Amino acid sequence: MLAAGRLVAFPTETVYGLGGDATCDRAVAAIFEAKGRPSFNPLIAHVASVAHAAALVEMNAAAHRLARLFWPGPLTLVLPRHPQSPVSLLASAGLDSIAVRMPDHPVALALIAAAGRPLAAPSANRSGAVSPTTADHVARCLGGRVSTILDGGRCRVGVESTVVDLTGPCPVLLRPGGVAVEALEAALGAALLRSTDSPDAPRSPGQLDSHYAPSLPVRLNATEAKAGEALLGFGPLPPGAAAASLNLSPTGDLEEAAANLFAMLRALDRPERAGIAVMAIPGHGLGLAINDRLRRAAAPRGR
Ligand code: TXA
Ligand code: MG
Repeated sequence: MLAAGRLVAFPTETVYGLGGDATCDRAVAAIFEAKGRPSFNPLIAHVASVAHAAALVEMNAAAHRLARLFWPGPLTLVLPRHPQSPVSLLASAGLDSIAVRMPDHPVALALIAAAGRPLAAPSANRSGAVSPTTADHVARCLGGRVSTILDGGRCRVGVESTVVDLTGPCPVLLRPGGVAVEALEAALGAALLRSTDSPDAPRSPGQLDSHYAPSLPVRLNATEAKAGEALLGFGPLPPGAAAASLNLSPTGDLEEAAANLFAMLRALDRPERAGIAVMAIPGHGLGLAINDRLRRAAAPRGR
């Protein structure tokens, strides 16, 4: 399928990806089309080894260090395009950098190796909607638009990879994700710049304000559900919590909460309800990525 330029959805440890041959313009165009994604938003090239990445991008010392410590795993590195890189310019949206990642999932790694080429793979949802963490989510969202869906069960991490830009003099965090910023800063021995720290700092074009959004309005830092609202809890629920409530982690475990986040947002997103009220989540570790996704889910729509 991939060799013929068709699309294959596959599991990774973070979320399901909508995969196509990253070296084939036609396949990459089909990904943008299936997602309804603006073509200025570049895709991640998924690889099965560090050597494979080094053929696509110029790996610098920081990239080698982070890859050695965190690959395979939920970390995406943005690096200068290798002069001989076979990756489609459409996949990198015409930028002179490419985002690369080696996922930590046996099905994903076997698929990339069998395809014998890098796979461009955004999350396998329509642009702006909640990311899929099961094969069933993919089928509901993209069913008719993908040739094959590989079912690897539930994704272990549940939020997308952390995206770090290593093209400049200082590493910049473009998207918080499955590797905690604290772990990256410890590995680099330096603070990660935030893409919001400086107006000149690079930004992930994908970080539009409204994203990861269910159909219902989302209200953050709730202490209880108002009439008609469903409650998405974290830690102990308030006494007399709404019947329509789910708990990201009753014990307050951020990794458990990340793994449950997208599936629970989907489960609570039912037309008979007025909205989804979400309790406060601490900001450290995976909490940074969870709060990033929730803030975008709650952002005004239509962007
Ligand atoms: O966990 C993940 O990263 C998942 C799985 C399937 O691997 N993929 C994923 O892809 O989340 P996507 O397309 O939904 O998000 C990729 C992010 C976007 O914010 C995009 O703008 C950014 O990476 N990105 C990709 N290439 C870039 C580049 N050259 N420079 C800056 N940002 C880039
Ligand atoms: Mg996405």
